[in-house]
Amino acid sequence: MKTPIRQPFSHTDIVFLSHILKISKSSLYLNSIVLDVNQKKQFQKYRRLFTKSYPIDYIIGKIELSGLTFNLNKNVLIPRPETEILIKYISDNAEYTDLLLDVGTGSGLIGITLSNKFYQVILADISQKALNIAKKNILENKIKNILTTRSNLLQSNSLQKTILNKVNWTLVANLPYIPSREIKYAKKYNVFYEPSLALYSGKDGLDCFRELINQIKVYKNKPKQCFFELDPRNIHQAKQIIETIGYNCKIIKDENDFDRFLIGEIIE
Ligand SMILES: C[S@@+](CC[C@H](N)C(=O)[O-])C[C@H]1O[C@@H](n2cnc3c(N)ncnc32)[C@H](O)[C@@H]1O
Repeated sequence: MKTPIRQPFSHTDIVFLSHILKISKSSLYLNSIVLDVNQKKQFQKYRRLFTKSYPIDYIIGKIELSGLTFNLNKNVLIPRPETEILIKYISDNAEYTDLLLDVGTGSGLIGITLSNKFYQVILADISQKALNIAKKNILENKIKNILTTRSNLLQSNSLQKTILNKVNWTLVANLPYIPSREIKYAKKYNVFYEPSLALYSGKDGLDCFRELINQIKVYKNKPKQCFFELDPRNIHQAKQIIETIGYNCKIIKDENDFDRFLIGEIIE
């Protein structure tokens, strides 16, 4: 049986209906909407989840960014607008190298979007569940020059071997950077449903960053350029840390004028 749905709808309803009926949002405004039993159940389920503050991007399970579609689920961070700024910056400014390594890749958004700018891309994450989503995104976006690897930062043997064979390579990392004590504000800041592994990183939020720098510093062929997204409260400390291993650094602001991106270039 088909049930007509009474209008007007909220913006969220329109997003849900467009997803369920696989039609554009504008045609939903123009036509009367009729749902079959399953579609109606799905619509009601989406509404229920939304009233519990479950993120709309997880409910839909997809997000459009930079002309590509990315699958999402509760195992990966929902991509943030500031990360798109980082991607655009890298796309406009990075030197071409043999390899882009995206550490803490989550949905794979950064490496996948930049795959046409580098000869080869590797997406690394400690979470196999996150890598499963990244793999799906590689496949569905038909990207050919990308590999994935499960690794605690740069620790996997295969990753280390690949890096050692590169003359020039580039690193991008949007790792967890929120101080762990702030987990108690997760509801307030609307990050309650996102994986803690993607968000929190020790007392000052820099545990992952510090460990990554410790791992990089032993390489003779350190990355030529490094790009990091960080917390405005710890980015200046991070800059000092990476400068100690031979990088010239600058900090770039995000769309809200916060110091958000750390760009390091090796001093030759
Ligand atoms: C802030 S999320 C960023 C996800 C994605 N890069 C983005 O920009 O949307 C951080 C990611 O780092 C991963 N991660 C956390 N600790 C890690 C570690 N020690 N080694 C590798 N990945 C790690 C998490 O699983 C998560 O996917």
